[in-house]
Amino acid sequence: MSEFMREDHTKQRLAIMGGEPVRRKPWPEWPRADENTASLLLDVLHSQRWAISGMYNGKKLYERQFAEAFAAYNGISYCVPTSSGSSALSAALEAVGVRQGDEVLVPGLTWVASATSVTAIGAVPILVDVEEHTLCVSVEAARDAITSRTAAIMVVHLYCNVADLDAFVALSEQTGIPLLEDCSQAHGAMWRKRRVGTFGKIGVFSMQDSKVLTSGEGGAAITSDPVLYERMEQFRADGRRYRTTPPPLGHPELEEIGSVEGHNGCLSEFQAAILLDRLTHLDKENNHREANVEYLRTLLPDVGDITSLSRRPEINALTCYQFLVRLNLSAFGDLDIDTIHRALMAELNLYCDPVDAPLNNNVIYNPLKSSRFDFTANMRERLDPKRFHLPVASKAKRECLTLPHRVFLGGKGEVEDIAAALAKVKMYHESLLR
Ligand SMILES: Cc1ncc(COP(=O)(O)O)c(C=O)c1O
Repeated sequence: MSEFMREDHTKQRLAIMGGEPVRRKPWPEWPRADENTASLLLDVLHSQRWAISGMYNGKKLYERQFAEAFAAYNGISYCVPTSSGSSALSAALEAVGVRQGDEVLVPGLTWVASATSVTAIGAVPILVDVEEHTLCVSVEAARDAITSRTAAIMVVHLYCNVADLDAFVALSEQTGIPLLEDCSQAHGAMWRKRRVGTFGKIGVFSMQDSKVLTSGEGGAAITSDPVLYERMEQFRADGRRYRTTPPPLGHPELEEIGSVEGHNGCLSEFQAAILLDRLTHLDKENNHREANVEYLRTLLPDVGDITSLSRRPEINALTCYQFLVRLNLSAFGDLDIDTIHRALMAELNLYCDPVDAPLNNNVIYNPLKSSRFDFTANMRERLDPKRFHLPVASKAKRECLTLPHRVFLGGKGEVEDIAAALAKVKMYHESLLR
């Protein structure tokens, strides 16, 4: 029996019922910053230039430095930093030619922004169910959902997993429909020794506060295609791009091109400086989390009735943003997952996000309330999320829990506390039935 199970919990009550929690000690903090982060931020503060739209001061922008560093990190030619993952997704969709009314395949289980970035440009998300064992989008279901209107296929790598990139690249090649990778939850993950985000036409990342690489808000799109790069550069900067030669001091470094209709989706210099610094820690932090995640997997059989998702063998480097466990609910008295979730959070003294609600039944996915669409045509039927059938995603919502990545930045003790809390909730679940 593992060390973490030896403690006698038999006389204990669940923390949510007033008992002693498994853990009172604080968890590793997130987001992280150190003196170097602070010194880069001060450098921006005194630089007289806080945005790429500011005036040229003779120095290389942090935004340019981050773009080069992130492209190099991913082993790809181009990176366009953006104000958010959502703005990067919309720019990517427009860059590959998605137009108003076109259909885009989107996983039915993902953060809402994967779909709202599609409606943001007037296109129609087609919700596709996920695979039971990985919860990433199913290639069979995607193939079945393709119509003559499909203009892009979006895969999302989530819950410490990677969508079946071999199969999706093949599907994209067979059909000629561009593949986009939403890697907002998978910075640095590797599939067959290559970074995710480099398999589709464009890879998109979010650098929002909770992400494994973050500047509070922020995003990026990467590509190997110079044409897509130029388009995305303009989409995110009001139709402007960098001049090929530096302007005189005090003049704008961006020139007005306008070969597309853009908007402002730029990353600020403060955010770029943070990302440049934190990128140097990403691999180390990812490796640390991966080792702890694998350790937790070894403890789960002792807890019993709780499993993790399968890890695809093609994944050489795992990025863990939210680690997901699946419960055999009959061993928990068929309690609803929200009750178990609350009990677990009380044991751990930790907020854990619930699994995303499937997009056909998600309170914050409301295309029918959008003012962007002309509902006189058949758009109401086309956009209605309820028309999509997502049994696997819905089952995951009923049976699964997530743990935030920062808990895996600790040591073995943190992992053992998680296992102990799961075991305790299972052992005392009957008190929750009353
Ligand atoms: C899978 C996925 N896609 C897109 C986004 C949107 O990113 P942002 O919040 O930076 O706009 C997120 C952020 O949570 C995400 O998790």
